[in-house]
Amino acid sequence: MSEPPAIFVLTGAGISRESGLSTFRDADGAWAQVRIEDVATPEAFARDPARVHDFYNARRAQLTSAAIAPNAAHLALAALERRWPGAFLLVTQNVDDLHERAGSKRLLHMHGELKRVRCARCDASHSWDAALDTATACPSCLLPGRMRPDIVWFGEMPYHMERIGGALRRCGLFVAIGTSGNVYPAAGFAAEVCGRARTVELNLEPSEVASQFDEAIHGKATGVVPAFVARLLAAWKL
Ligand code: OAD
Repeated sequence: MSEPPAIFVLTGAGISRESGLSTFRDADGAWAQVRIEDVATPEAFARDPARVHDFYNARRAQLTSAAIAPNAAHLALAALERRWPGAFLLVTQNVDDLHERAGSKRLLHMHGELKRVRCARCDASHSWDAALDTATACPSCLLPGRMRPDIVWFGEMPYHMERIGGALRRCGLFVAIGTSGNVYPAAGFAAEVCGRARTVELNLEPSEVASQFDEAIHGKATGVVPAFVARLLAAWKL
């Protein structure tokens, strides 16, 4: 038997939907309630920081509520990481912490994290569970009024792109889960590895970039992700 391939998993909001967190572009998603231009750009924050804080404070509060927990799909990916003998990297576009709560370790948040804040003056990033407001002082430089959610907004560079690029070049199996393929650079990862790595899409419906995948499995994440992981481990007798 040949060597187990290096695995690259990309996740999006669809994997957390069954944990009770809304997606962005579904009919009941975040971008149906508010406009991206009002809450998710540096210009929106410069124009009306209180409005932006309200939006992310509500999402952070929801995430810290007892009702939200990792689901079977998050748990299956953590189990795959533990049992896989080859290289493994999980890159998420999600700003929730459900992958780490499920036990994932080799994990990068390319769009930032709801439970972190960053100072626009000194750039220090801090773990944060509470609400932010326009007067909050930075725990590092102590300046008030310059704290922002540590979220990558539209027009900003996603985090960890160097490590992500390296893992994409090395992977032999690329799996995208619960992402609509609307937001770049993540939406371009499948095209980048296409021809070198096997590509599999697990999503409720075909994504915008479905043609870039060798295989598509449609269904809810809590069903299709554990089944896919079980099939992969069985194929490699793990
Ligand atoms: P989207 O809301 O664009 O897409 C979510 C995808 O998940 C859709 O294709 C749904 O069909 C699918 N889906 C919904 N429920 C599902 C379920 N139970 N199981 C499996 N799939 C399901 O979310 P993302 O692609 O993650 O960025 O969005 C990418 C980025 O756009 C986000 O990180 C965010 C957003 O604007 C920033 O805020 C910077």
